[in-house]
Order: sequence, then C-alpha cells, then structure tokens
Amino acid sequence: MTPSHTTEEITFTLNGQPFTARIEDGASLMEVLREQAGLISPKNGCAPQGSCGCCTVLVDGRALSSCVVPARQAAGKHVVTLEGFDARERHIFAHAFAVTGGLQCGFCIPGIVVAARHLIARHPDPTRAQIAEALNNHVCRCTGYVKIVDAIEMAARALRGGPLPQADYSGAIGSSLPRQDAARLVLGDRPFADDLRADGMLRGAFLFSAHPRARVLRIDASEAARQPGVVRVFTAADVPGERHQGLICPDWPLFLAEGETTHCIGDILAAVAADTERHARQALEHIRVEYEVLPGVFSPEAALAPGSPRVHPGRDNLLSRSAIARGDVDAALAASAFVETRTFTTQLIEHAFLEPEACLAVPGNWGLGAGGWVEAQRDGSSPLLTVFSQGQGIFDDRRQIASFLGVEEAAVKVTLVSNGGAFGGKEDLSIQGQTALMAMLTGRPVKVTLTRCESIRLHPKRHPMTLHYTVGCDSGGHLTALRARIVGDKGAFASVGAKVLERAAGHAAGPYRVPAVDIEALAVYTNNLPCGAMRGFGANQAAFAIESMLDILAERAGIDAWEIRWRNAVDAGDTFCTGQVLERAVGLKDTLLAVKEAFYSSPRAGIACGIKNVGIGNGMPEAGQAIVEITADGRVVIHTGFTEMGQGFYTAMAQCLCEITAIDARVVRTEVDTAFPTPCGMTTASRATVLGGRAVQDAARKLRADLAPGVRLSDLAGRRYAGEHRAGATTPLGSDTPHPRTHMSYGFATQVCILDEGGRVERFIAAHDVGRVINRHMVEGQIEGAVHMGLGYALTEALTLSDGVPDSFKLRALGLIRARDMPEVTVLLIESNDPEGPFGAKGVGEIGLVPTAGAVANALARFDGVRRYALPMRDSAAGRAMFGTRDSGL
Ligand code: FES
Ligand code: FES
Repeated sequence: MTPSHTTEEITFTLNGQPFTARIEDGASLMEVLREQAGLISPKNGCAPQGSCGCCTVLVDGRALSSCVVPARQAAGKHVVTLEGFDARERHIFAHAFAVTGGLQCGFCIPGIVVAARHLIARHPDPTRAQIAEALNNHVCRCTGYVKIVDAIEMAARALRGGPLPQADYSGAIGSSLPRQDAARLVLGDRPFADDLRADGMLRGAFLFSAHPRARVLRIDASEAARQPGVVRVFTAADVPGERHQGLICPDWPLFLAEGETTHCIGDILAAVAADTERHARQALEHIRVEYEVLPGVFSPEAALAPGSPRVHPGRDNLLSRSAIARGDVDAALAASAFVETRTFTTQLIEHAFLEPEACLAVPGNWGLGAGGWVEAQRDGSSPLLTVFSQGQGIFDDRRQIASFLGVEEAAVKVTLVSNGGAFGGKEDLSIQGQTALMAMLTGRPVKVTLTRCESIRLHPKRHPMTLHYTVGCDSGGHLTALRARIVGDKGAFASVGAKVLERAAGHAAGPYRVPAVDIEALAVYTNNLPCGAMRGFGANQAAFAIESMLDILAERAGIDAWEIRWRNAVDAGDTFCTGQVLERAVGLKDTLLAVKEAFYSSPRAGIACGIKNVGIGNGMPEAGQAIVEITADGRVVIHTGFTEMGQGFYTAMAQCLCEITAIDARVVRTEVDTAFPTPCGMTTASRATVLGGRAVQDAARKLRADLAPGVRLSDLAGRRYAGEHRAGATTPLGSDTPHPRTHMSYGFATQVCILDEGGRVERFIAAHDVGRVINRHMVEGQIEGAVHMGLGYALTEALTLSDGVPDSFKLRALGLIRARDMPEVTVLLIESNDPEGPFGAKGVGEIGLVPTAGAVANALARFDGVRRYALPMRDSAAGRAMFGTRDSGL
C-alpha cells in the first residue's frame, strides 16, 4: 500500500485517557474520533458544513461540532464524547429519551444529548425555551422537537435527583412501548451504515457530472489510479450487468459511459476505491473528463416545447399523463353559483434526512456484529456478496444490485441497516449498486458514504408542481365541479414520478364530495435533479391548492372556512375523487369536530383538511409477509421485508405480536434481511404497519396456538411461524370499471394553524383519524414530526436551482425549522377502527403534513388579507419570523 501523507502527530485526552492521533492536513476532530479512535457516537450528518449538530462533542467542556474543529486544535485538550459520559448519565439520558418517545431514527440524538448535558451543567433546571435555544445548532428531521424537549426536561429532573418513570414493556396495543434499540440509538452505540467496519475494508468515492447536460467525450482515470492509497478506479466499462436501473422504469444508469449525454449533475461517471476515504476523494480530483456542454431543459414548459432537447435520447420528455373524468364538468360549472380559477405553484424540496447515503458491501456471507464490525455467517447459503443497505426496500435493492452485477439474485444478500431518516428519499437505489461492484471486483469490503453535497445531488426530491384549478360551488357552498391541470417537474429520472403525479391527480379534490371532476396530471422530464417519492407523495401539492380554493369559495358563499369543509366532507358511502366509494373508517368529520373549538377561538386561525391513501393501490397487488422465529435462548425474532427508518415499524411489529401472544416485549426484536423470504416491496405509501402488522398477526396466532400453559419459549426454539396478508384487489386510476377501488384505505385529518398578533405561528392543532393507536408516542411523534416538515414546506423550505444546479448545497440554506422556531403542537388522535389494518390501525407516516401548508396559507390570508399562491410563503410575517432573519447560508 502506498504510504499515506501523515503530516503530524497530536495528543489529547479522550474520554479521560491520553490519545495520540496521526493527522493529515485538513483533518477534522470528527475524522480523528471516527476513523482513528473508532468512536461512533459522533455522527456525520453534514461534514464539513457544521450545520446539523450530529457530531457534537465536548472540548474542554464546550459543546462543539467536531466536524468543523480542526484536529490540530484538539491537541492538549480534553475531549469527551457520549462514550465518555459516566454510567449514571448514560442511563438517565437513554431512559428519558426512550420513555418519552424522544427519538425516531435516532441519528441526531447523540449530538443532542451532548448539547443537553452541556446545557444542564449550566442550567440544572432548564425551561423548555432554554432547551429549544440550546438546540439551535442541531437539526432533527423526524420529531418536530416536541418529545426531544420532553426527554431533556425529564433527564434534567433525574440528574437533579428526581425519579425516572418506569417504561411499559407489556407491548400492548395502545401502550407506548419504547422503540426497539432505543438506548443504543440515544447513546450512539447502534451503528448506522456509515458506522460499519470490516477487516481490510476499502473506502469508495464517486465522481459526479460537472454539467446537467453534456456529452461525455472521454474519462481518463489513469492518473487517479496512481494516487496514494488507490486500489482501483471504476467506470461504466467495468459493469458486467445492466447499467440502467429504476424502480419502475429502468432509465437511471448507475455509471454514465463515454459517449453518453448526462441527464443532471447527479450522474456518476467514475468511482475510486482506496485505503481511506480521504485518499479516495483526493484521487477523484485526478480523473480527467472531457465534456461537450449542451443546452439543457430546466422547466416542464421548456421540456415540452416543440424541438426541445430530449433528456433521454429516443424517449419523449413527457413521462406520464394521469387523468380522471367523472360527470359533466362544463355543465356543472355553468350551473354553479360561484366559480373561481387560480394557479398555484409548489417548490422543490430536499428530504434532508439526517443520515446521508452510505453502504457497505462485503464479499461472502456476513451479518451485523458488535460495535459496528460485521461478522462472518456460517449458516445458510453462501452469497457472493453481502450488501448492508439503508434502502427502503431490500428486496428491490437486491433485484437491482444483482441485475447490475450480472448475477443471480441468490448471489446477493441484502441486510437492512435501519436508517437515519428517509421520507421516501431512499426508495431508489442510490449507491448500493456501485458499492457492490467495487467489492466484487476488488474482492474486499468496500464502504461508501456520501457527503451532504453529494447526497443532495443524487437522490430524488419532492416534485415542484404547477396546479391550475377551477372549482365551482352552489350558493350554499356545496362543491359542484373541479377542473385541475397539474404539471410536475420530474427531473432527470423516472423514479416513481409517474405515480406521484398519479397520486396528485387522485387527491386533487381533497377529502370532499365533488360530483364532477376533470383532472389531468403530467410528469415531465427535465435536466433538473430527479424527483420521486417524498412523504405525502403528490397529495401535499394538491392539498395546498384545493384547501386554498375552499377558503376562496367560502368567502364567495358567505360561510366560514370550517362550515364549508363540514358541508363537503366525505363520509362513509361518499364517492372520492377517483370514483371509489368510501365504505368504512371515514373519520374526517370526527377530525373536524375535534378542532372546531380551536378554530373558532381565534380570528387568526386557518383550517385545512387532508386525505392520504394507505397502500400503493391503483391496481398493484400488495402483500405483507413475516416469519416469527424462536431462538435457542428463548427470544423471538420477527423477520419482515419493510424498512425501519425512524417511523417505529419494528416496535409496532413487536406490539402486534405481543398483543396476541402476551410475550414480554423485551424478548422480541424485528430484523430485515433477504436471507428470510419475506418480499413485500417498498416501504412506501403509509403501508408498512398495515401490511406488515397483518402478516405478524397471522404468524402470532400460529405461535400462540403452540404456547400451551407450561410451554416456555425456549421449548419452541428453532420453530418458525410464517404469516402473510394479501390486501384486497385495487383498480388502476381512470379504469372504466363501474365501481373502482383505487386504494385499500385512507387516512384523514384536519389541522388548524393559529397565528399570534404579529402573524407568527403560535399554535398548531392536528386532529388525525389513525384507525387505531398501536403505539401512542410513536403515532404522536409521526404527526409532530410531519407538522414540523409541513411548516417548513409552507413557510421556509426550498431547494432552489439555477439551470439544474442548486444555488447552495448547504443544509443550512434549505430552511429547515429549528427547535426554537417551532410553535406549540397539539395532536388529537381519532380512532375509526379500520378493518384493513392490524387491530384497526391505519398508516400515519405521510398524512401529517398533507393539510399543513393549506392551513397556514388560510391563516395568513385571514391575518393580512393576502392570498398566497406559491410555496414557501417566506414573504409572510410567519415566514419571516422563521426564516427571514437567519443567515441563509448561501
Ligand atoms: S456533521 Fe458536524 S455539524 Fe453536521
Ligand atoms: S430522530 Fe432526529 S433526525 Fe431522526
């Protein structure tokens, strides 16, 4: 191996012990802690941007982001990471976060715990405002901060000598069973993909296209291959299988080849495997690429113009058209008392999951071991490769990886490493294919971790849309007809964009009875960053439009905003926009009643309703599978194919099992691995709890039958109980069947936004029909986190592009709302008992932010009389309060 460029040796005290590091120029303290000291509690969420707080450690007692502390500055200092906290502190923080539901994916939490300890050292009894202020350098994308603040309050009390409440481990439905692995996640001990290690492991890095549209004339990697530490450089020429992959449409080349034209700046041209990440990245700078820069198309209008350049040669720029037509819209509009026409626009949104994409691929059969190290597996088959993926569907990952490598699917084992947030952004294959290729061709473990900048340029975003709406109502405010023309900027690759626009069409009328609809939604390729799945999946954009239209029509009809919703709200037996008759578990009116008093309590309150499909539907067969295994030591392992990404899926599955078997939840865990045949598709469309839960129920009943009195779990060691649930058939959107059933079920919500006298968001009330509460803290946490994301969507967030290139790659520039800017959030849960779901539950992963932007827009219109048609509404008093005064970081 070529010697590294060691430039200096430094010594500091690390968690009470002297530690000596050999550092190269530019090394950060975080790099030393993670790469040399082998510590994994400081997480890398954005290095070297210093914007997320995930890497926070104490340096001489100060809480600092270790990714922006030059390693050299640590010399002679005392550095303390979470690993160095005393046992009592570790226990208190772990327990407080677990019992309050203060964590979801957990990626941000170790850094937050360090900041909390720093705060409590100075203020042993901090107020909620002080806690929120102390988190100003931290980002949590999952929780909305409500339960994080609860947890820190509880921890402070316990550190002062107060009691810690007991956790409920019954696993009963409705209880707040602590999240699986909660303590390890809080303390940073449970490894994420970037924390994994293997003997002889190489590190990989990618070269991305410099231009959104350019012909790649030549890629010369000869000089890069000679750089220190480099083992091999890879290009399209090294791919033995199918280079183009995709969840629905295989239009995404995992390596772009010489002679081809780039689609966006997320195209990968080459990869380097080297002894260290630093060396891999340095070598990238020596890859010479010759481009012929070409004009691109950067808006749907430009892409659809006659003669415009094709984003994909030989393929039309119009990816898809979704349409719904019911009734005579022209006649209904002509007969309406009031008709209004408006155009709305929504923005490109970055998921900003806190954990950037990472993947480890290892030749042979490996499993997750202790301390982040992988360990050899001797049982089962012997795959060519094991891929540790953080993706949202390991069986789809495996299918595409195998196709890319040109091997049988059985040759690839994919093990899920529960991820640090996804929100739809980890549905598509990201870097698993290239990482697997590097491992296969070098015969060594290879790990790749994207930087925040690379993450932003690679994964699909939320679609920006333009929505032209014409809506009519009678003199009593009853809706009569709706015409909608929706155009979505799909960006460079299909991903699931056609389905997103299909869902926007299906949700265009919101949760209201509209007798006549004429809806068209187009997904259009451009050379912008790709767009795909993101929490809400097209429903959010449509909700902003229809909820604004309802308030506009209410004013014309002379009724208030609550009343017009009440008069039009769907109930059991009513027909939804897609033509489906809603049969049962339609809790919308209950959610309206739940917020009625709050809405009428303030002249500055805005209201909006929401509906979101549960399950992909639209004709796609859907099923959940589970295998419940009893281990030799009397523990229970639930194997399924869906992904844990912070939403609490693993824990919910344990509760579905415990409720039926009365087994103590502490002996139950859930795992996801292709070694167990439980294929069930992507973790998407708020369906994992419904399909997975029903499958676990099925398996649990079989296990219960064997648990006769006196039989211990260890007596059943080695037994496996298979469970399955197949959802009822659905029909494609627009099919001419007389009784379409486009989805298995729907969630419903009503939200109220209350502004203070200055126009800032003071209070937010979210009433949701969740079917049945499986885990109260987790359901509340999903909705609190979604409201936080929805407020960002409404007021502050945008990823702006200029000719296909982000104006900034900084996390800070995205407009994510910080803890101190969050209003008080009240979650009201309505149980409608949905027969489709386990114990009556519905999926709640997405609907939490479907109505949010509409509620905010309607509150703002009441406050200042300005009707806003474009997101984000940064120009408003509420937007300025959250975003206007901050350093944009551009
Ligand atoms: S990784 Fe250091 S602040 Fe984000
Ligand atoms: S729990 Fe904070 S980012 Fe996921």
